[in-house]
Amino acid sequence: MSVSFRSERPNRLSPEAHRSLTEAAQRDPERYWLDEAARLSWVNAPTRAIDSEHGWFADGTLNASVNCLDRHLETRGEQVALIWQAEDASHVVHMTYRDLHAQVCRMANVLKAQGVGRGDRVAIHLPSVIEGIVSMLACARLGAIHVVLFGGFSAEAIADRLADSGAIVVITANVGRRGPKRIPFKATMDAALALRPDSLKVTRVFVVSVTDDQVPMQEDRDSFLSGLMDASSTECAAETMASNDPLFLLYTSGSTGKPKGVVHGTGGYLSWASYTHEIVFDHQENDVFWCTADIGWITGHSYVVYGPLSNGATILLFEGMPSSPAPGRWWEVLQTHKVTTFYTSPTAIRALMREGDDIPARYDLSTLRVLGTVGEPINHEAWAWFNDVIGQKRCALVDTWWQTESGGILISPVPGAVLEKPSSATLPLPGIQPVLLDEKGAPLEGPAEGVLCIDGAWPGRALTIWNDDALFQTTYLKPYPGHYFTGDGARRDEDGYYWITGRVDDVINVSGHRIGSAEIEDALSCEHAIAESAAIGIPHDLKGQGLVVYVVANETADPDVQKLAVSVIASKVGRYAVPEKVYVVPDLPKTRSGKTVRRLLRKIACGETNGFGDLSTLADPEIVPVLIKIVQGHG
Ligand code: WT7
Repeated sequence: MSVSFRSERPNRLSPEAHRSLTEAAQRDPERYWLDEAARLSWVNAPTRAIDSEHGWFADGTLNASVNCLDRHLETRGEQVALIWQAEDASHVVHMTYRDLHAQVCRMANVLKAQGVGRGDRVAIHLPSVIEGIVSMLACARLGAIHVVLFGGFSAEAIADRLADSGAIVVITANVGRRGPKRIPFKATMDAALALRPDSLKVTRVFVVSVTDDQVPMQEDRDSFLSGLMDASSTECAAETMASNDPLFLLYTSGSTGKPKGVVHGTGGYLSWASYTHEIVFDHQENDVFWCTADIGWITGHSYVVYGPLSNGATILLFEGMPSSPAPGRWWEVLQTHKVTTFYTSPTAIRALMREGDDIPARYDLSTLRVLGTVGEPINHEAWAWFNDVIGQKRCALVDTWWQTESGGILISPVPGAVLEKPSSATLPLPGIQPVLLDEKGAPLEGPAEGVLCIDGAWPGRALTIWNDDALFQTTYLKPYPGHYFTGDGARRDEDGYYWITGRVDDVINVSGHRIGSAEIEDALSCEHAIAESAAIGIPHDLKGQGLVVYVVANETADPDVQKLAVSVIASKVGRYAVPEKVYVVPDLPKTRSGKTVRRLLRKIACGETNGFGDLSTLADPEIVPVLIKIVQGHG
């Protein structure tokens, strides 16, 4: 099944234009990407694009904040750059490009006065407030590397990331608002900073006052930001950076327990964010672009901040939640701010769908033109609901596939150019060459299913992993030599469309949040009462995947190992990683060489009781019925 084009306004790209761009990129990638680089404003324009040794646009120099702000001042200085909708419906802030530029310069001056400069790492740990975006761009202005830390991380997780990045300054908030609840940002940061002071380099903590809530301030270390910003100049010269100077680090999960600081460069990353935002969202003048992602994730970096602002768009940032104080809040926000382009996650769509069609029917959604999803596969039912009830069958719907490491979207429909098929990410963007490989690493032709790799290079690809280039090589480049390994599996149909089948490694995707099984298992392994554990993902109606953990208790353990496991995960990783189920078991199914057989654990957790195939390779096949009994007994 495919869906026809429905836009009332002409789209940017026709099917012919898409095809000719794809061909042009194949014919002469060097020329193609050099032409694309011209979308940015450079201090020194690059003369070459691809250089396997020196990275993207290697002789180019630029500043990312200038590209998102200064260069728009002449033509759109009075255009609204950012609409901030507070939790409180009556509290809205409209900031023009000129206003945003001034705030970014003030913040940059505050950081500069603190000695922050080129290459320094600054950690940003904030709820959805304007200062998040301002901080990112202020770092970019100074050539400092921002490290945004997700608000859901625990103090332990924050401490690990502060230590690994070597951040010298932290920007946080007194609290975050979540409906009537208060999220203790500052208290969590204080706890993180106290955990292992010897391995941290943080000397200064700037605090945004989101509410009037009082928080303890450490005199020689902590300061409120607003007074300092008010006293700072609205002008701050931008540092000229080399194209491959890092713009930011962003931590993500992989197959190892250690957090990976994915490093993105300046020129390549920014051109990719700009290119993909423009073509995938069919960006046009007067669009109001709302990406619901938190800036703590790559989606927030590329499609709240860098893509849309580099293209001079108007973005919306909403502080609150989809259904607070009442169901329909997101639709109300959409209506109030006349959103044209709406980008969210399948998990959010599934949750909103459950509230019933009559809720969105109360709102005027007629300004919508392009809808997008990201982070996980979107099932047919959710796709159809988003398309029919929210898009009212008038909108383009882009199911965008990409990852933290790719910098931006790689496979996606393009409005007006690529016909959608529900639940398929469809075709690669012009310039992207996916390839499917069999288990031996041989490329598959035509319709096939295999491991998804990307051939050739694209400007958005991460440069490396912070402090661990060897891990970058072994994770992405060595598994299938000559190809970039994505960690996903996919199927290609007779039209060349891609259908992502999910991770082929030990990464679990809960509501679009990446959780490494090793991350959970390492956290649990520090606990004396727990001898061993295995974390797996199983299908979940709402979250896409749900996390299930099997733990083997030490003999002397106290009886409530289940509770212990939950609290250890919450405190070492974060509340977002708390499992659906914890099964306390006498042992794990292992091969004779001692490898845990996760395939079996998944099947058993899904309620299967037979069809496990040959169990004779297990060290102890008798464990299987025992596990089944425990899982079934849980109901
Ligand atoms: C993993 C990357 C991309 C930004 C948000 C998540 C899964 C992502 C899709 C999609 C099916 C998807 C993949 C990918 N994923 N988009 N449209 N359809 N799966 O970034 O945390 O780096 O996770 O999310 O498994 O590898 P991330």
